[in-house]
Amino acid sequence: MILEALNYAATWPLTSAGHRPFIRSSVNLWARANRCRAAWAEHERRTKAAIVSAADACRQRRTVVVLGSGLLRDVPVSALSRLFDTVVLVDLVHLASVRSWLAIKRFRNIRLIERDLSGLDALLAAQPFEPLSFLRQVPYLDLVVSSNLLSQIGIGAARKLEGHADAEVLVPQVIAAHLEGLAHVPAATCLVTDVGYTVIDRNNQTHETVNLMHGIDPGPVRDSWDWPVIPFGEESRDYKIVHRVIVR
Ligand SMILES: C[S@@+](CC[C@H](N)C(=O)[O-])C[C@H]1O[C@@H](n2cnc3c(N)ncnc32)[C@H](O)[C@@H]1O
Repeated sequence: MILEALNYAATWPLTSAGHRPFIRSSVNLWARANRCRAAWAEHERRTKAAIVSAADACRQRRTVVVLGSGLLRDVPVSALSRLFDTVVLVDLVHLASVRSWLAIKRFRNIRLIERDLSGLDALLAAQPFEPLSFLRQVPYLDLVVSSNLLSQIGIGAARKLEGHADAEVLVPQVIAAHLEGLAHVPAATCLVTDVGYTVIDRNNQTHETVNLMHGIDPGPVRDSWDWPVIPFGEESRDYKIVHRVIVR
C-alpha cells in the first residue's frame, strides 16, 4: 500500500493534467502484476518473444514504436533498445517506477510519449477519427508494436461511454480504428492482444465468456495462448478469469 501511494505521488508531477486520472489504474495494474507475477510470467515471456521475433524480421531497424508500453512487463525493452536506433514508448501514463527503471538502466535511445490512443474524444467530437495517424509523423519508422493494449482501449471506451445511446456502435469503431491504423502504417507491425476472457470455477465449469473485441475480427492469428489474468485467490477463492491472447 505504501509503495503504491509513493508511486502514485511520484508519478503525479511527471504526468500532464489531462492524463492524471489514469495514474490510479496504472498503479493498480502495477500492484496486481506484482501479486500475480508467477501466473503472468508465461504470458509475458511469450509476448516478449513475439515482439523480438517481429523485430528480428525487420530489414531495417531504425525506429520502433510500442503502443501500450505501460509497465514494460511484456515489452523486451533491452532487446529493442539494442536492436533499434530509437525506441518510442507510448501510453496514457508512464509511472515513476517505470521511469526510474529506465533511468537506472541508462538507455540512451528511449523516448516516452503520453497519449490517448483510443481517439475516442475525436470520434465524439465528430472530428477526423484516425487515432494512429500520428505514426505517419514518426521518422524512419520500421516497426510498430501494440502490446496488450487493444482490449484495454475497448474497456476504457466502454467505461467512458456508459449510458451513451450509441455505445454499442462506438466501442467496436474504436477497436476497428486501431486495427485499421496498424494495417495502414508504413512499417512492420506486431499486434499482441487479449481478445476475450472466460470465468472458470474450481470444477473447471465455465460461467461466462466475454468477447473483448466487441465482435470485430482481429484478422489472421500467428500464435495464441491463455493468460490467467485473475488466478484463483486474486478476486475469489472460487473462480479464476483466463484471457485468450493472440498475436497478429
Ligand atoms: C495490460 S496493460 C499493457 C501492459 C504493458 N504492455 C506492459 O508491458 O506492462 C494495458 C496498457 O494500456 C494502456 N492504455 C489503456 N488505454 C489506453 C489508451 N486509450 N491510450 C493509451 N494507452 C492506454 C494502459 O495505461 C496500460 O499501460
